[in-house]
Amino acid sequence: MSTIDEIRNRLDIVDIISESVKLRRSGKNYTGFCPFHANTRTPAFVVFPDSGSWRCFGECNEGGDLFQYVMKKEGVDFKEALKMLADRAGIQLEPLTPQKKERNERVDHLRKLLEEAIMFYRNQLINSEPGKLARTYLREKRGIKPETEEAWELGYAPKGWDAVLNYFKSKGYPISDIVEAGLLTERQDGKVYDRFRHRIMIPIRDMSGQMTGFGGRVLDPEDVPKFINSPQSILFDKSSILYGLDKARRAIRSENQAVIVEGYFDVIVVHQEGFQNVVSPMGTALTEIQIRMLKRFTRRLTLALDPDAAGQKATLKGLEVAREALDHNSDPIFDARGLIHYESRLQADLRVCTLPDELDPDEIVIQDPKLWEQIIQKAQPIIYHVLESLTEGQDLDDPKVKSTIAAQILPLVKDVANPIERDAYRQQIARILKIDERVLLDAASHSNRPRKYKKQSPHSEEQPAHTAKLEFNEQGKINMIERGILAYLLKKPESKYKINRFLRSNKLDQLTITDFSSSENQHIIQIIFDSLSQGDLDPLDFIAEKVEDETFLKELEQPEPSKSSEEELKNTDLRELEESARMIMQARQLSVNQQIRDFRFMQTSQEEEGNNDQGVIHQERLLDLIKKRGLLDHALSKPVIIQ
Ligand code: UTP
Ligand code: MN
Repeated sequence: MSTIDEIRNRLDIVDIISESVKLRRSGKNYTGFCPFHANTRTPAFVVFPDSGSWRCFGECNEGGDLFQYVMKKEGVDFKEALKMLADRAGIQLEPLTPQKKERNERVDHLRKLLEEAIMFYRNQLINSEPGKLARTYLREKRGIKPETEEAWELGYAPKGWDAVLNYFKSKGYPISDIVEAGLLTERQDGKVYDRFRHRIMIPIRDMSGQMTGFGGRVLDPEDVPKFINSPQSILFDKSSILYGLDKARRAIRSENQAVIVEGYFDVIVVHQEGFQNVVSPMGTALTEIQIRMLKRFTRRLTLALDPDAAGQKATLKGLEVAREALDHNSDPIFDARGLIHYESRLQADLRVCTLPDELDPDEIVIQDPKLWEQIIQKAQPIIYHVLESLTEGQDLDDPKVKSTIAAQILPLVKDVANPIERDAYRQQIARILKIDERVLLDAASHSNRPRKYKKQSPHSEEQPAHTAKLEFNEQGKINMIERGILAYLLKKPESKYKINRFLRSNKLDQLTITDFSSSENQHIIQIIFDSLSQGDLDPLDFIAEKVEDETFLKELEQPEPSKSSEEELKNTDLRELEESARMIMQARQLSVNQQIRDFRFMQTSQEEEGNNDQGVIHQERLLDLIKKRGLLDHALSKPVIIQ
């Protein structure tokens, strides 16, 4: 449950409004004089405990939820109202705890230290005698240009055990800071020494460009391990960082594709050669957190895998052994099964391309940028990639080989959530293995019996909450629809214009924040609108920044309409737009119906009291609502088509 929902659950809207308005019970609801306008003759203000909302049917003709009431009453903005109500409900808003504040300050402090470390290592690279070796290596062996080296802030960690130690000590940093920042290693006996020695230093920043740690690559091929990263700490969490994302996010968005490579140097060099939509994890398989991060910019993710042993072996490992049974010491770079799970769960479009033998992305792109483009274009769904590597060099006429391969690939197919895709995969596998598809289906259903009773999601066992949510009340339904619209507009804010054009052509009002019922949804749509009316940032960057500092927005992870066939995939963008426009009208329809019901309630309740001063105004409003409903019904009776 979100913090906001929790606040709503704990507080009673009638209690709170009663503090400032004298309320009288009227059936299920409560009426009173509106506190927001002067008229005190007719009680035109109604509180609806069931939906947790209020409305003034008099002059203001306004309404909303508890948060909106407090915002209006106290003249505060949403965040302020959230704070006040959280306080009342006895709920700690995450960002405000003193521990969290302290932690943030600590992180800031250590970040500054790391920024200084970048300068230290750069100075070593540029100005020291031993740094020359590193410079030559970068230029000559890796094809890295001076401006690239500068842009990525590459450095050199000198030999010896205490260069960094002494440098930071002389600057007045306590040893504990340098250790916590990950630059020193602590021995059992408490002695400390430089963690990175005689290595190329690669600063690792998070998606907003903040410093988190370093990767260090050997210069001497005899040294092991080839790479050392900063240790896990409050700054550095390798499962949630993608190297290069701060520099790649813009291109990922504009090209609507992210390419994931394996190594730091691959990222650096591929960027240098003009392909900026490239990032890499830190030597581990892609995590769910990383996929979620990328999905803020695109759902089309392409993995470019090194042809080297690691990639291939990991493929097979992922197949043969269940994920949990994997040897935890060896982090697989590519774990097909895990990725298919994420793909289904996060509705991402994950593809894989294999690089030509013996070549890493950096080498390919330097030799032939066109080739790089072609390789990326040829990326295929994970299942096909795995099938290809399983069948390579195998005798497919041998029935034993066929059945071994089928046994390895079918569990993966089974994990694909979308039934249309699943069927397509089975057909393709049957074709390649030259087996009758029915045999394959049979094999699949054997390995898969309990699932017969389940609907679509292979994850329902992990997420019981999902099934429990199937019953929506009206308000829940409206909220779901609103969230769907928001999830879309957060990705495509500028679609607002197209949607408005569509609404206009159906004689409907433009999209406004009042199309959203809850205050948090209104707050989010306001951010989206603001992103379009400001000129400093790309709207999506603007949103990303806002979303980053407001934890509750992160809860807005909506499944997108699922992809099915190849053809439909191409049209996904347009379909999503049309679907969003339809959802807007649906939400309006539900809300107009609700308002009409509320109105009728209001009228009856006033008539019962023999009080009907505002009968004429009411009649007009009601007619207006009924007209709106007519237009919506009409627009919703035909398919939504947006050119
Ligand atoms: P690779 O061993 O494939 O190296 O590791 P690479 O990127 O091709 O390096 P070059 O081209 O020889 O310089 C791929 C990535 O895995 C992580 C690093 O992030 C590296 O870039 N890795 C690798 C580690 O973290 N530790 C290791 O010991 C090895
Ligand atoms: Mn390499």
